[in-house]
Amino acid sequence: MLSIKNKTAFITGASSGIGKACAEQFAAAGAKVILTARRIDKIEQLATDIKQKYGVDALALQLDIQRKDQVAALIEGLPQNWQQIDILVNNAGLALSSDKIQAGDPSNWDTVINTNLNGLLYVTHAILPQMLERNSGHIVNIGSIAGHDYYPGGNIYCATKHAVKAISKCLRLDLAGTAIRVSEIDPGAVETEFSEVRWQDKNRAKEFYADFIPLVADDIADAAIYCATRPLHVDVAEMIIFPTAQASANHLSRNEGGAKGMFD
Ligand SMILES: NC(=O)c1ccc[n+]([C@@H]2O[C@H](COP(=O)([O-])OP(=O)(O)OC[C@H]3O[C@@H](n4cnc5c(N)ncnc54)[C@H](OP(=O)(O)O)[C@@H]3O)[C@@H](O)[C@H]2O)c1
Repeated sequence: MLSIKNKTAFITGASSGIGKACAEQFAAAGAKVILTARRIDKIEQLATDIKQKYGVDALALQLDIQRKDQVAALIEGLPQNWQQIDILVNNAGLALSSDKIQAGDPSNWDTVINTNLNGLLYVTHAILPQMLERNSGHIVNIGSIAGHDYYPGGNIYCATKHAVKAISKCLRLDLAGTAIRVSEIDPGAVETEFSEVRWQDKNRAKEFYADFIPLVADDIADAAIYCATRPLHVDVAEMIIFPTAQASANHLSRNEGGAKGMFD
């Protein structure tokens, strides 16, 4: 097992859910963490908590990954002792609504594409040169089962997560011959703020997770730690992780026993 003590992990979307759990678990394993998200208050609080709880350094930086210039400026302007990024966790992402394409709102599509796909590319592009220069580093992309499967109303979100899968695979090809590792973790249903953001409806989100046992964010952070702590000659390319109650994007065994679609 490879130690990540004193390594630096850069995490997008650290203000909530999987990104926040990754921040905690990487810090617990001794890594320094750079926490980024749009909600600065949340990541500043998390940085304070992490420093107290795990005795490692944590830096909170506000970042909207949709903004190419902001991404580049933030990476360029990192304080001296934070400039070497060993692990990048491309986690920030969202879905907005479960509307069918014919009923969809194109401005929602822009946000989802600009975050899940373009944002991931901007951050990766800004951080890769230093990894290449050192010939070391690890990129962990959080994809989704929506990148392997399809469901009614999944349209744009599925498209972006299929794109994340393509980017992960192509990145591994582009980096072949270097020591840089690329892993993709693809969760099924995880109870986070994800559904609340998707539907802008707390009750609907709560109800969605009420009659099966979903994954929790720590389950996915645990997988990210697994990837990051393999020996350097091991690159975990892809992990699909379901809650036991889920068999595909369209099959969730809810308590009453029936298999229902994810979003019906
Ligand atoms: N929950 C699930 O069932 C599930 C399943 C499969 C895959 N995933 C994927 O897991 C990742 C994390 O989602 P989650 O479940 O942890 O949801 P979450 O609790 O809603 O967290 C999403 C995170 O992304 C950040 N974010 C969103 N837009 C951003 C932007 N433009 N710039 C920077 N940060 C942004 C949010 O921070 P701010 O709002 O503060 O910016 C938040 O920290 C996403 O890529 C999602 O697609 C989730």
